This record gives sequence, structure tokens and C-alpha cells, in this order.
Amino acid sequence: MKINIADHYEEMSKMAAEHIIQTVHRKPNALLSIAGGSTPLGTFRYLIEASKDNRVSFSACKFVSLDEWVGLGGGDEGSCRSTLDQHFFEPLNIREEQIRFYDGRSTDLNGECEKTDLFVEEHGPIDVIVLGVGLNGHLGFNEPGCEMDTYSHVVELDDVTRTVSVKYFNEQKNLNHGITLGMKHIMESKDVLLLADGDKKAEIVKATVLGEMTDDVPSSLLRRHARFELFVDDKAAAFI
Ligand code: GLP
Repeated sequence: MKINIADHYEEMSKMAAEHIIQTVHRKPNALLSIAGGSTPLGTFRYLIEASKDNRVSFSACKFVSLDEWVGLGGGDEGSCRSTLDQHFFEPLNIREEQIRFYDGRSTDLNGECEKTDLFVEEHGPIDVIVLGVGLNGHLGFNEPGCEMDTYSHVVELDDVTRTVSVKYFNEQKNLNHGITLGMKHIMESKDVLLLADGDKKAEIVKATVLGEMTDDVPSSLLRRHARFELFVDDKAAAFI
């Protein structure tokens, strides 16, 4: 595990973005998976600037979704797909054929899992996976109690996740399930980046790096990965 502590959010975002840029320089057709929460938004801004300055090109990369709320699709405000569309795919002119993303509105969620697993099989393993962490330690939607030997699957959301989810939506949604890459995808990724910022994440960051390695805190299991890097700002690093 490598821990990168930045003085503030923008610096943390820059450090994570530079890691992604290096990966794409080494392998222009890299397969990337990036979380759609609030944490990576600064990293997206930095990558967009770097692309405008011709410091990186994502034109040969592939992208696979990390997770999605069941019941929501690309057109739904607050969905993971719409966040990535707005803040990453569209500003970078990523083409649809470069992307495989779960459709949480599909009536065939098993089919969504199969198509995603096939995409990773064909283009993978994932070269870099960029994760946020839930207040309960979840990764994507691998909630506390998750199994290690899973690929894509549908999950019943933890109470903490349901409570926190309101921050993504203007109107109340009744979201009880998620669809996500599994822990096996995460552990088979070549580089695993975990980003966390702000006071609220300080406790879970401490549990991630110093606590017991347990499936009760999925993020703690990343310490088993040989190329796991944590990127935190000063606030999230308060207890480590
Ligand atoms: C969300 C998503 C994850 C995200 C995590 C942290 O519920 N399922 O993909 O990384 O929780 O979100 P945020 O970055 O908004 O704190």
C-alpha cells in the first residue's frame, strides 16, 4: 500500500490524475474504470485540462462502469452514468464504442452483468480502477459483508448507502439495489487507486489503512493488493 497525503483536495485530485496520465502514456489503449461519485470530480477536471493541453489522449482507451443504481440509467440525473457523461466522457469526447456501462434501468440485470464481465474479459484486466469509498467502507457497491470471489452482481444496498445517497439527487428516490463490478474485478485490476477527501471520510480512511482487514470494511481488503494507492487530502488523513 502506498499512501499519498495531499495538502488539499485540488492537490489530491492532481496526484491521482497524474497517476492515470502515466498509465495511459505507458498503455494508450488502457482499460479504465472510474467511480461516479463526488470524490473524483477534481481529478476529472484535471484530466480534461491535461487533454486540452495535449498532455494525454484517451481516444484509444476503453472504459467500464464501476457501479450504477438499480432503477437509474444514463438519462437520470444523479446516476453514475450521467455523472461520468457530464464530467468526463462528454468533455473528453469519449465515443460510445469505447464505453461499456451498466444500465440500471434494464429489465435484464443478469444480462447487464454478463455483458460487462465479457467486456472486461475481452479488453482487461482493468489497468487502473479509480475508487471512492463509502462511509461504511464500500467500494463501488461492494457493501460490508461482500464476497471476494464475485464479478459483476446485483447487491442490496446497505442502510448507510441508502441514507448517504440523497446527496446525489434533487428529488427523493427509492433506491434499494445497486449493480457493481465485484471484488474480484477490483483485486484483478493492475493498479487500484482509492480517493477520499474531507472530514467525513477521516474515520473510514483510518479503518481502511489501520483497522482489521475484514469484509465488514471492504476498503480494508485493498491492503492485500500489491499496487494499492490511497490518495487523501489533509482532512481525510486526520487520523492516519
Ligand atoms: C457511492 C458509489 C461509489 C462511490 C462511493 C463514494 O455510493 N457507489 O462508486 O465511489 O459511494 O461516493 P462519493 O465519492 O460521492 O463520496
